[in-house]
Amino acid sequence: MAGRIPQDFIDDLVERADIADVIGSRIQLKKQGREYKAPCPFHSEKTPSFTVSAQKGFYHCFGCGAHGTALGFLMEFDRLEFPEAVEELAQMLGLEVPRGEQTENRTAVTPIFEMLTEAARLYQQALKKHSPAAEYLKSRGLDGSTVRDYGIGYAPPGWDFLLQHFDTKDETRRHLKSAGLIAERDQGGFYDRFRDRIVFPIRDSRGRVIGFGGRIIGNEEPKYLNSPETAVFHKGRELYGLYEARRATRKLNRLLVVEGYMDVVSLARHGFQDSVATLGTATTPEHLRRLFRVAQDITFCFDGDRAGRDAAWRALQTSLPEMREGRQVRFLFLPDDEDPDSVVRAEGSQGLNERLQNTVPLSDYLLRELKAQTDTDSVDGRARLAELARPMLKNIPDGFYKTLLTDRLATEIGMGREKLTALLGDAESARRSTGRPSRLRRPAGRQPTLIRQAIQVILNYPSVRAQITPPEHLPNVRQRGAALLVEILEIAAQKPNINPAGVLERFRDRPEYPHLVSLLAEEFLIDIEVAGSVLDDNLRRIISEAEQHRFAELVEAANERNLNADEKDELRRLSQIDSDSTG
Ligand code: GTP
Ligand code: MN
Repeated sequence: MAGRIPQDFIDDLVERADIADVIGSRIQLKKQGREYKAPCPFHSEKTPSFTVSAQKGFYHCFGCGAHGTALGFLMEFDRLEFPEAVEELAQMLGLEVPRGEQTENRTAVTPIFEMLTEAARLYQQALKKHSPAAEYLKSRGLDGSTVRDYGIGYAPPGWDFLLQHFDTKDETRRHLKSAGLIAERDQGGFYDRFRDRIVFPIRDSRGRVIGFGGRIIGNEEPKYLNSPETAVFHKGRELYGLYEARRATRKLNRLLVVEGYMDVVSLARHGFQDSVATLGTATTPEHLRRLFRVAQDITFCFDGDRAGRDAAWRALQTSLPEMREGRQVRFLFLPDDEDPDSVVRAEGSQGLNERLQNTVPLSDYLLRELKAQTDTDSVDGRARLAELARPMLKNIPDGFYKTLLTDRLATEIGMGREKLTALLGDAESARRSTGRPSRLRRPAGRQPTLIRQAIQVILNYPSVRAQITPPEHLPNVRQRGAALLVEILEIAAQKPNINPAGVLERFRDRPEYPHLVSLLAEEFLIDIEVAGSVLDDNLRRIISEAEQHRFAELVEAANERNLNADEKDELRRLSQIDSDSTG
């Protein structure tokens, strides 16, 4: 596989791309002043609140909160993974994506993929030769074409089925081991990992085999054995059946999320090719993002047991931050001790389809569970309900979905929405819900800090970095956000042509990303002509504020103890500055 895409190229790409062109190639944009507008492609609306700023290289929907760069748009709209979006954008601009050299400490993945592909082929062949294995699959109701579509195979008994097929070179063994196909004995020597098991190949979004899940045929333990984490296989990310689902249906509207491998293939056998399973783990945020990239309607359909119901509640929690207008999360609760496989086999596709007409929307499930924990007939019970809902609502991004859910909760509690919103301590949506235009604004009454302002200027106009000389002591400022400010100033210094979107892309995988996105989404009224002097002034005030703060700190310390020599020097220096600037 090719190496990492160099950061320089991504910077360059984002800088060159005209986001209005990129988005304009997918939806129709209308120019309005310095920006472009359109009905949001990510939720349904009548008045356009989807805004594209060519200058920032950034889009933002004031209705549902969708936002991002040109690359982000392609990921969302075309449902691409990051590297695919880079490919797509490069192609639109007629550029070739360079791939970095593979460095020594990065595991070379090409041989791993080769080993896995070959193993999958060998397992599939073996299935044909071992009738008990094929019989087992038949007894589970599977047919030949499902087995073929999912590439299901069989790892024969014995310790060296794979080992026998590959050569004995050290290098080959090393690759097989890196692929998780063989393991090494403590006393030396190797053995096959999968033995006498039905194997389900797990494929990535491009259809490459990245690992296996192996089910025992009898009743021994453990029932399932998965590939270990390898350079290409990460359990918390992957969804079994997603590649097959996308391949089977051109445009997926819905995805069914189930618990087991067997559920996925059994559902597919009955015509539900749109089902996927996590690999024995809980649903992670990463899973959710991948699911929503493929379909807007996600239905969780877990087993009808305690574990399944717990998993559903956890999936609800994980879904909240992803809830936006246009997206749906539903739950299908099965009778005790049933799973999707047993239901579809007993009731047929028609039976399951009927059940799928009666799923529980996330909001109903949420309210139902919270109400079950409280006595909504009493005043304090209703207050408790609000209290329980608070952290959950907080996790939902601002937008229609949140407003709707807040409304419903208000009705449950018998309280006006505004009052409830105030109680929930969410000034932002209170204002939003009073019908004022829903431009993103800072929560009322909070003074923007100097650092926040400075970050906003440099983020909106990275090019003004060339006009200023940041104060020497800026990196010593310990206030919140100062390090981030210094970092962005540094990026802008190194890349005089970078645009706001380019800066943003540098932070895509960092915790600061959402913060920067909302800063950039805010309406920004400073003109580029004055931005340089505003920033310069700002940075100077940051320093002077920090110095005043330090001065006060030292004065206070001096009242309590003896200052050391350095501190005295510092105090002397600072008192000078202070009298200079005030006198
Ligand atoms: P059947 O029992 O054959 O119907 O399989 P299933 O896919 O329905 O399995 P089950 O509902 O018991 O478990 C759901 C998923 O949890 C499986 O598909 C596995 O991913 C995982 N799992 C179950 N048992 C084990 C185990 O013993 N070890 C590991 N690592 N994972 C397991
Ligand atoms: Mn099962």
